[in-house]
Amino acid sequence: MKREVPIYTIAVIPGDGIGPEIIEAACAVLQKVADLQGFGINFEQYEAGAGAYQKYGQALSAETLASLRQAEAIFKGPTGLPQVRLPDGTEAGVLGGRLRNGLDLYVNLRPIKLYPNVPSALANRRAGEIDWVMVRENTEGLYASRGNGVVATTGQAATDTLMITRLGTERIVRYAFEEARRRNGKKRVTCVDKSNVLRSFAFFRQIFKEVAQNYPDIEPETMYVDAAAQALVLEPDRFDVIVTENLFGDILSDLGGATVGGIGVCAGANIGDRYAYFEPIHGSAPGLAGTGRANPLAAILAGGLMLNYLGRRDAAAKIEQAVEHAFRQKTIVLKPDGSTETGTQAVAEAILNQL
Ligand code: IPM
Ligand code: MN
Repeated sequence: MKREVPIYTIAVIPGDGIGPEIIEAACAVLQKVADLQGFGINFEQYEAGAGAYQKYGQALSAETLASLRQAEAIFKGPTGLPQVRLPDGTEAGVLGGRLRNGLDLYVNLRPIKLYPNVPSALANRRAGEIDWVMVRENTEGLYASRGNGVVATTGQAATDTLMITRLGTERIVRYAFEEARRRNGKKRVTCVDKSNVLRSFAFFRQIFKEVAQNYPDIEPETMYVDAAAQALVLEPDRFDVIVTENLFGDILSDLGGATVGGIGVCAGANIGDRYAYFEPIHGSAPGLAGTGRANPLAAILAGGLMLNYLGRRDAAAKIEQAVEHAFRQKTIVLKPDGSTETGTQAVAEAILNQL
């Protein structure tokens, strides 16, 4: 009797700058894991980002967005190029807002984990001591103003508005507590806000406390964002899950990245109730493009997050373990600036061999 092999359709956006190189490396890893675990992946490529904007006048066409909705998951490289800008001065190729709001991907999940032998910007920190996850609200907060800010007709003033809604806060806080349950960690959720100064954040914190009541097995904790910035440097080992507003989450996830070898090893999942996309959290680094030096690990780890989302937990664990072992055995060596000693191809091969 023939057994049906499940095949996942993955929409791939290679993106700009180093995007195509690192996504190709990560797709090879995903393909190998799929072969080993006995399932199929059907990669479909789509043009989107700054390159697409230059070619077609649109960073993301309606047809592409419609196709992305048909896939089981979206695998995305970094998009955007600093010199490709809209008339309002913002970057034309950035897709974050379009995809996150367009597909209602309200969770931005970013694991911050120090791997063995990785140089941390913090002195005396060892693998295992930094292991927390950012649950960044992804559809509102200050970035609700993306593309909607007001510039005074005088040209002498501009405003952006921070929006916190009950529904948006409830669902992200619930996700954070569920994530704390799933994780084999400290079972703690830290709400990061600025409720000592702003009403919007007092509202956020109040909802956090309400939702926390439903999770007696998880310790709720609250912290102001400035104090959190310090604590992430001085005592990163206290954190398990952080839940926060969009802008704060954007900033603190890069700060966290710096403590674990840089954002070159940090992946992010953008998840909603129906759709999701997975990406390295770093940018397109156009200066590095084509040199073969780009670090593909964030993209590879993003592939792991995607497999987890697809319910392929064993396959996801294989990727994570391969990265861990490669660092432990020093077949991959990360330099203090976040680049690897050997380059894109060699890092991908080290992971493929490890698998
Ligand atoms: C991120 C990025 C994006 C964001 C930019 C590139 C639009 O910084 O994903 O963290 O603002 O969220
Ligand atoms: Mn960012």
